[in-house]
Amino acid sequence: MPLLEARSLTKHFGGLAAVSHVDLMVDQGEIVGLIGPNGAGKTTCFNLLSGFMRPTSGTIAFGGEDITRLKPHQVAGRGLARTFQLTTLFQDMTALENVLLGLHLHSRRGPRQVLLSRRVFPPDEVARSREILEYTGLAPHADRLARNLPHGHQRVLGIAMALASRPQLLLLDEPVTGMNLEESGLVMALVKSIRDRGTTILLVEHNMKAVMGTCERIVVLNFGQKLAEGTPAEVSTSPAVIEAYLGAGLARA
Ligand SMILES: Nc1ncnc2c1ncn2[C@@H]1O[C@H](COP(=O)(O)OP(=O)(O)OP(=O)(O)O)[C@@H](O)[C@H]1O
Ligand SMILES: [Mg+2]
Repeated sequence: MPLLEARSLTKHFGGLAAVSHVDLMVDQGEIVGLIGPNGAGKTTCFNLLSGFMRPTSGTIAFGGEDITRLKPHQVAGRGLARTFQLTTLFQDMTALENVLLGLHLHSRRGPRQVLLSRRVFPPDEVARSREILEYTGLAPHADRLARNLPHGHQRVLGIAMALASRPQLLLLDEPVTGMNLEESGLVMALVKSIRDRGTTILLVEHNMKAVMGTCERIVVLNFGQKLAEGTPAEVSTSPAVIEAYLGAGLARA
């Protein structure tokens, strides 16, 4: 049984079919890439899978359970976490506090309510959050405000927050966009290490070096539809994929 199984996933915005009859399967332990041109429907897929949007039609199963109509905190509570294409940190809080709030992504009230109701975080939560900062290389920045961290560190902090809930599946939306070669290399090594510690990864990214070097399987979207699927070698030599995306993508990478 696949860990994640979306069948005929479809999302319409008015007359626009942003995602159209997409079948998407992810097995436990894989790193799967979801790529395609701007506007292809990648982030919309993430919004559907994580409960932030309801599909127009289609089904989503996670660990064999139908999660199609669940709310974001219910999906997160079952072990499916995500990061966002645009950084969504608590900018006026420290890196440590951001990870502490990440522990509560699955709470029904959400991190903002937790924030208002908590004065002090329990020691076990602080210890767990410090461990994640250590693991992600952010420990030296634990007490800096998120807003004062360099862009690359802010993106990693977004991943650290998502890791706090110990997800089974992590959806990463453009984790290395805007990073230089060295930074993106470090983040992709982190992604592999997250998988090696047991979290399955579904990755959206335009940086083709990062995608081809990290993913074992790649699904290509174009105009909301699945255009191709296969190993990096298969996808990168597919004439349809080159025409729709990789011609430009490789030039950009
Ligand atoms: N909330 C929304 N309301 C209306 N249209 C939307 C909404 N979200 C996305 N769209 C449209 O759906 C299409 C798919 O957008 P989406 O953000 O999923 O693309 P993407 O593949 O993530 O692109 P990018 O690589 O630029 O991030 C686009 O045409 C976009 O304008
Ligand atoms: Mg997107």
